[in-house]
Amino acid sequence: MATPVLDNPLRAGLRIGRTPEPCTMVIFGASGDLTSRKLVPALYNLARERRLPGGFSVVGFARRDWSDDYFRDLLREAVNANSRSGPVDPELWASFAQGIQYHRGSFDEADAYTSLAERLAAIDAERGTGGNRVFYLATPPDAYPTIVAQLGAHGLAHSNGWTRIIIEKPFGHDLASAQALNAEVLSVFREDQVYRIDHYLGKETVQNILIFRFANGIFEPIWNRSHIDHVQITVAETIGVEDRGGYYDTSGALRDMIQNHLMQLLCLVAMEPPSLYDADAVRDEKVKVLRAVRPLSVNDTVRGQYGPGSANGLPVRGYREEKGVSPASQTETYVALKLFIDNWRWAGVPFYLRSGKRLPRRVSEIAIQFKAAPTMIFADTPLNDLDPNVLAIKIQPDEGISLKFSSKTPGQPQIRPVTMDFRYGASFGVTSPEAYERLLLDCMLGDGTLFTRRDEVETSWALLTPILQAWAEGPPQPFPNYEAGSWGPAAADEFIARDGRSWRRL
Ligand code: BG6
Repeated sequence: MATPVLDNPLRAGLRIGRTPEPCTMVIFGASGDLTSRKLVPALYNLARERRLPGGFSVVGFARRDWSDDYFRDLLREAVNANSRSGPVDPELWASFAQGIQYHRGSFDEADAYTSLAERLAAIDAERGTGGNRVFYLATPPDAYPTIVAQLGAHGLAHSNGWTRIIIEKPFGHDLASAQALNAEVLSVFREDQVYRIDHYLGKETVQNILIFRFANGIFEPIWNRSHIDHVQITVAETIGVEDRGGYYDTSGALRDMIQNHLMQLLCLVAMEPPSLYDADAVRDEKVKVLRAVRPLSVNDTVRGQYGPGSANGLPVRGYREEKGVSPASQTETYVALKLFIDNWRWAGVPFYLRSGKRLPRRVSEIAIQFKAAPTMIFADTPLNDLDPNVLAIKIQPDEGISLKFSSKTPGQPQIRPVTMDFRYGASFGVTSPEAYERLLLDCMLGDGTLFTRRDEVETSWALLTPILQAWAEGPPQPFPNYEAGSWGPAAADEFIARDGRSWRRL
């Protein structure tokens, strides 16, 4: 691969090298897992790469009675354990930690917000953060409305600088709850202040889908129903529900993965080129894809739940035996579905989506399978013995893009499939930043392109809510129906086989 040259028009959109204005990030739920596993390691790595503004400050808001020093020590350990760049650099940590404070309070305690406002004003005065604030909701979702209302009531939704709010997933658990949450949030903040996170959009390989499609001239002409047979989007995980059984059992794979991450991948693969790379133009095109999806039929879905089996060669328990999970749970840990996008580009092309936990490999990829050659001139090879051309966009791990095509076997009259491979690691020789690094930075820069807009979230829920309802009203499923460590229920194979196709072996 040639040395990458970043050029217009996407260069502007990539926001290369811009540093945000000084600001303070208030993290609600600062004692939680997300803060220590993702947020603070991401902020630390941004500091390491000198991407954070001078005076950048963090205020951790949580219930526990901790001191600033105790909180800083915990975060230091968290960075040691979770940062992609390894243990902290003591000097860098010392300067980063100077900007960290802890604020004790319950989410519904008015006084805690009065004192938060005072604290933020003091930070503005001491560290020059100019009233610029990011509020990060890293709490359980049932706390979102309370925090939003309290911020509004205490005049914290606006300041003499800019104020933004980042809201973690899950954003609602169906269409009605997502609409209600949007109404609550938007009664306090303007839409352009709201950054709904889907961390898949922060992954380098996911951002590269648009670059691949729209910064190259050769793919777009064949990116349509004339040339593409079908598309498969797979997000497979080897992990089970870990210590999140309580949350997961009220959610399931359709809500946890399909509604957000896989639908976002679908949009990026299927959208029309935006007229420019900016937040509204990109999101307008994504919403158009979602609006064009034909209403889903429950017959086009397959559910699964893992039973006991193995992971990485070790025996593991079944889903119903996981901590926090009901022993009679009907929650799905696997979903496969087929959908159609009824527009001129995609009419008649099936998109197969699947995602599951406790599958044999951790792999996320989008495979574009092209139509076969129209006729075969090589007499010894029947047309249907040929492997079709497949363009596989590998999102993780082994990030890259590969194209499969047929080739003559040297010295023999045979045709075999071969691949042309691009690998990020080999071509660029650097490790990709974590999704949260990019997303936190974009929010501080005021760039919402990689965040989901209100209409996107609601349209996605509108598509999937009827399926959730049909499942809830239908007969109980014979769960568990796949063994941990297998590729999901047999019904998923039968489902795609009915269309004369098969899942890719990954
Ligand atoms: C989260 C889901 O959004 O994404 C988890 O809640 C899932 O259940 C995770 O494990 C997968 O993310 P990644 O980045 O590891 O593919």
